[in-house]
Amino acid sequence: MSLVRVVVNGSKGRMGKESVRAVSEDSELDLVGQTDINDNLSEIISQRKAQVVLDFTHADVVMEVAVSIIKSGARPVIGTSGLLPQQVDELQKLCRKQKIGGVIAPNFAIGAVLMMKYSQDAAKYLPNAEVIEFHHDGKLDSPSGTAIKTANLIAGVRKNITKTSSEKEIIKGSRGGDSEGVQIHSVRLPGLIAHQEVIFGGQSQTLTIRHDSMHRESFMPGVCLACKKVMDLKELVYGLETLL
Ligand SMILES: NC(=O)c1ccc[n+]([C@@H]2O[C@H](COP(=O)([O-])OP(=O)(O)OC[C@H]3O[C@@H](n4cnc5c(N)ncnc54)[C@H](O)[C@@H]3O)[C@@H](O)[C@H]2O)c1
Repeated sequence: MSLVRVVVNGSKGRMGKESVRAVSEDSELDLVGQTDINDNLSEIISQRKAQVVLDFTHADVVMEVAVSIIKSGARPVIGTSGLLPQQVDELQKLCRKQKIGGVIAPNFAIGAVLMMKYSQDAAKYLPNAEVIEFHHDGKLDSPSGTAIKTANLIAGVRKNITKTSSEKEIIKGSRGGDSEGVQIHSVRLPGLIAHQEVIFGGQSQTLTIRHDSMHRESFMPGVCLACKKVMDLKELVYGLETLL
């Protein structure tokens, strides 16, 4: 069996370094390149005959990077957060045109995928819900991609929420950001890695679904799985759950 030839882009960053280690240690993957901000990614894809590019860069460059990966003929596995739904659509069209598969996963940790699935289920019965996400203070964008995806899943299934129309924020932002009617609160502190709570409120009761990534290695089984499974895909998929 031939190994899948992978380039890690953003390899000098926190997730990039962890991915370099994980890809190198996986017996079905071959790490053929490590690129970062000053490298010519398209040239390296072609020189090293890369089949997959794993991207952990920044929200403000991810769209441009994803387009260049697809146009260079490699399959994108995107972990970087910040892609908007219309950008995901555009990348799906581009992959279709190039006849290649791809993966965009806001969260590669299996526990986080389950948290989203259970939250979607709970929202059918307890429609009033808010999301609190907690990340390390080096995270540049907010809210997290996981929080946006969770809000999207909740909004898609819930009905009849109770909301007061006379609500007034004394300090702007106190009620968090509104994503499809779901409030998201972002906490940034040293000491944290990636955590999220989804709190549901009902009559005299609350339900809290919480996930904690204690170390970046929590994302690596999902990262390696995506790098392998993307080889069999005929389209670009959104979310690790599509591969499980
Ligand atoms: N999907 C997931 O499971 C998951 C998990 C954790 C973090 N993330 C996301 O991954 C991304 C990276 O996180 P991080 O903590 O490693 O960030 P980081 O700042 O530590 O690393 C980013 C790296 O990208 C490089 N970079 C920036 N622009 C580039 C470009 N144009 N081309 C190539 N390299 C470039 C930087 O030099 C840096 O080395 C963030 O968007 C974060 O939210 C996703």
